Amino acid sequence: YRNLRVALLGAGSVGSQVASLLLEHRDELANRVGAGLDLVGVAVRDMDAARDADIPKELLTTDAESLILGSDIVVELIGGLEPARTHILNAINSGADVITANKALLATHGPELFEAAGQVGAQLYYEAAVGGAIPIIRPLRDSLAGDRVQRILGIVNGTTNFILDLMDREGESLEQALKTAQDLGYAEADPTADVEGYDAAQKAAILASLAFHSTVPLESVYREGITGITHEQVVKARRAGFVIKLLAICERLTGPEGQDGVSVRVHPALIPDAHPLAAVHGANNAVFLEAEAAGNLMFYGAGAGGIETASAVLGDVVSAARRHVAGGPGVAESAHANLPVLPIDAVTTRY
Ligand code: HSE
Repeated sequence: YRNLRVALLGAGSVGSQVASLLLEHRDELANRVGAGLDLVGVAVRDMDAARDADIPKELLTTDAESLILGSDIVVELIGGLEPARTHILNAINSGADVITANKALLATHGPELFEAAGQVGAQLYYEAAVGGAIPIIRPLRDSLAGDRVQRILGIVNGTTNFILDLMDREGESLEQALKTAQDLGYAEADPTADVEGYDAAQKAAILASLAFHSTVPLESVYREGITGITHEQVVKARRAGFVIKLLAICERLTGPEGQDGVSVRVHPALIPDAHPLAAVHGANNAVFLEAEAAGNLMFYGAGAGGIETASAVLGDVVSAARRHVAGGPGVAESAHANLPVLPIDAVTTRY
């Protein structure tokens, strides 16, 4: 199969890691996909900005529009609504599959983007938009598609979990902890999105839309952040056997007449010490999900961070590339083609 052309828009903490991993693991990824993945360019605003991971200078460009044209796969990691929306629509209309981690855009313009993709048979992948490295989009979209999700309780913002955890365990102030979270690359460009719950509300809208097979507009998500939480409240909760977490709650409601509704909200909540969500520390995320047939499930892992989130983006790149190799729209993604046989020692190693 011919090599596939991959264009990357944005080289921030996630984008620069995606570029670096794509180049570093080139041969391995080519084997998994059955075609080479050529990173044809990385669109940036500032050619000379400092980056978390090195990108060869000749790949950098400020001309995103030209880069998009002629690419098979476009990875949007700019964030924000514009120009990300326009770039994604251009990519879709030029026949590319698109990968994005842009929760703000999906929560605001998701229906428009999915419709545009549907019209031309393009695919939009967004595993990295919620929960960083944690696989949660595919499980909701595919694995649980035959079940009925009743409720989701999610810790979906790493920055606020990190802050609340440091306030609880180290007695740090909100400001001190936020500064550390920013230094570690967890926070959004404007940390108000984290501490005021906007980021979590966007993720809640995405999760609820998937879980309840509906469109949940961002405006209908109730939102309250953690800026009103004091150290005294954290200590008091701890003494009473609880921990304070910022939760995204998506619930299926059944009205008195039997009609279905949903409640989607983000606010600080008291979690009993014994609940698995109470053990989610640092910038980790977790999605605790209650489904009618499956029962309770929990998805846990790094919810923020450049290289961790890059893992989810690269998974999407591989999925999109496999779809191309398999013949494009309408053909199942093949995960089992050309698997090498491992030497027997490799599979019998004891832990
Ligand atoms: N600022 C976000 C967080 C990054 O802290 O979770 C991942 O979406």
